[in-house]
Amino acid sequence: MKKRVLKKGRFYVPTKDSKNESWISDEKIYGEAAKDPIKFWEKLAEEGISWKEKWKKGYEQKGEFFKWFLGGKLNICYNALDRHLYRLGDNKAIIWVPEKEDEKERIYTYKELWKEVNKFANVLKQKGIKKGDVVCIYLPLIPEVIISMLACARIGAIHSIVFSGFSSDALKVRVLDGEAKLLITADGYYRKGEKEKLLQRAEEGIKETKLKRTIVINRFDKKRALKKGQEWYDELLLKAGEYCEPETMESNEPLFILYTSGTTGKPKGVIHESGGYSVQAMYTTKWNFNLKEGEIIWCTADIGWVTGHTYLCYGPLLNGFTTLMYEGIPNYPNPGRFWKIINKYKVSAFYTAPTALRMFILWGDKWVPKKMDSLKILGSVGEPIDEVTWKWYFKKIGKGNLPVIDTWWQTETGTNVINSLPGVGPFMPGIAGRSLPGTKYGVVSETGRILKKGKGLLVQFPPFSPAMLRGVWKNEKKYKETYFKLNGKKVDYYITGDAAVLYPNGFIKILGRSDDVIKVAGHRLSTAELEHAIHKSKSIGDVAVVSRPDKIKGEEIVVFAMPKKKLESRKEERIRKEITSLVNTQIGPIARPKEIYFVEDLPKTRSGKIMRRILKSLLRDEELGELSTIVNKECIDEIKIKIKEGFKR
Ligand code: PRX
Repeated sequence: MKKRVLKKGRFYVPTKDSKNESWISDEKIYGEAAKDPIKFWEKLAEEGISWKEKWKKGYEQKGEFFKWFLGGKLNICYNALDRHLYRLGDNKAIIWVPEKEDEKERIYTYKELWKEVNKFANVLKQKGIKKGDVVCIYLPLIPEVIISMLACARIGAIHSIVFSGFSSDALKVRVLDGEAKLLITADGYYRKGEKEKLLQRAEEGIKETKLKRTIVINRFDKKRALKKGQEWYDELLLKAGEYCEPETMESNEPLFILYTSGTTGKPKGVIHESGGYSVQAMYTTKWNFNLKEGEIIWCTADIGWVTGHTYLCYGPLLNGFTTLMYEGIPNYPNPGRFWKIINKYKVSAFYTAPTALRMFILWGDKWVPKKMDSLKILGSVGEPIDEVTWKWYFKKIGKGNLPVIDTWWQTETGTNVINSLPGVGPFMPGIAGRSLPGTKYGVVSETGRILKKGKGLLVQFPPFSPAMLRGVWKNEKKYKETYFKLNGKKVDYYITGDAAVLYPNGFIKILGRSDDVIKVAGHRLSTAELEHAIHKSKSIGDVAVVSRPDKIKGEEIVVFAMPKKKLESRKEERIRKEITSLVNTQIGPIARPKEIYFVEDLPKTRSGKIMRRILKSLLRDEELGELSTIVNKECIDEIKIKIKEGFKR
């Protein structure tokens, strides 16, 4: 077997062999890209993407707004499919593995995928969808989700995917905000061996919206009777035209919106555009995973998150790789399922989240096969990967021979932007790596002063990379305030919301969110959204949601609720159930609180602001720090006792 990494002190570096098979093997690229990032990206855009018309200007920035490849014309669906047809038409584009083991996988070659996308694009057009219209996709991990995305992109419609695990209320909020014209959903999917019905949830979600048309994909054996405004996908496809001309998109025209949680208010519709996103999605997939045409990448993220958008759909297909998608949970029918899939289909690059890995550690090594020879690269994403998990991944899955790439990024950055490239390294637990060539991340102090090294707020300096978000859907103010304002003052850099340590050599250690965003099993949730959901309870006066570190999920949700009236213990249980159910219906089961404490008061400032920082420290048994701004210090002791007593459900 080829040796891929060598130990060098505390970390690992790629071997010569490994460098030889890497797209990027020389760290000079960092320095060269930094000299002129705009030229760097222009060169990649020219070489990697087929443009209908070349751009007139590489980059332009006005205040917080910026554009890439101005005047350039392209279509991402054409780039992901049409241009591969001649050479790679019979290569596999998608391998779809259903959760049920006795059900056969479905494989789409590039030609087959192209055919179906063309037909579905014609269906969408026939349903009145035009360039610039928003189409909401509420689908599980089935091939039709990729077909739907590409069909939208082909006709210039903007897709807005809602994670299929979200509740009907979460769907409603997103349909309303995006003013979606059409919904694509499925009758259901399989999860833990059970049928999970989706259509009912979808119906509920759009009931109070203007959206009247739903296209339904049939996943179950039997078709149910459809209601008014609903049509079956397969029946529409039968009548659809074979070819649909790809719409010409200006590089900066929107490709998709994806809702994500912020510190305050409703989820934000992050806008991504066509040109810059295509370039960066393509190259990061190629460089991070070091694949060649025909090789398989398996990104285990759901398509409802940005990781799925970029590394399950667009990135692999833009490169002519094969993307593998698996419908179900990691331990169905047993915890050996993932590894069995890797060996059966000969997956080359595997990309997953630390929470999943920590579950595997818990389930035991006996499920891991002795050999997984097809693997070349292991990636991690979505949350910090701790040393124990990193080492387990490296030793047990990588057999001590594969680079583990810790990739930092966000919905807003569109693609991975901080890591160690597999042909360059080094690979080590705890340090994500450096800014992707052509981007510049660094840290600033709490007051916004740019630091050369040390701990600070993680920021990106201009020129902002091509795949960056270009706005928040219908909310310019939120875009400017969230990403370009610090302590109420406008800044010239992009604020990520994370804290990090910058080392003098440019390496970055991610410390986690510096704001009120919580990451539960890699899923991004905001305390504000959760509190908003809980406030719907008539029995609760005030509420604060904070996180507590969790060995498996990274973080867990803890609720401190102030009942309007003192509660008897029987009633406490009822309200706990009510809170859990409110969170379930407004957001979804992923946001289920782990612990719910009823307290008489919450620590507040003079202006009435709840000090979540104090609650967080109490849960972590840390020093409480400066307390002079709290007006009701007495409540801290009560909360301490409650936490100590612990929580029984
Ligand atoms: O806090 C960082 C964390 O996930 C946040 C972004 O979440 P989301 O928009 O849902 O995108 C997740 C998938 C890219 C970041 O602000 N995060 C992401 N990757 C890492 C990470 N934290 C530590 N290490 C990572 N590799």
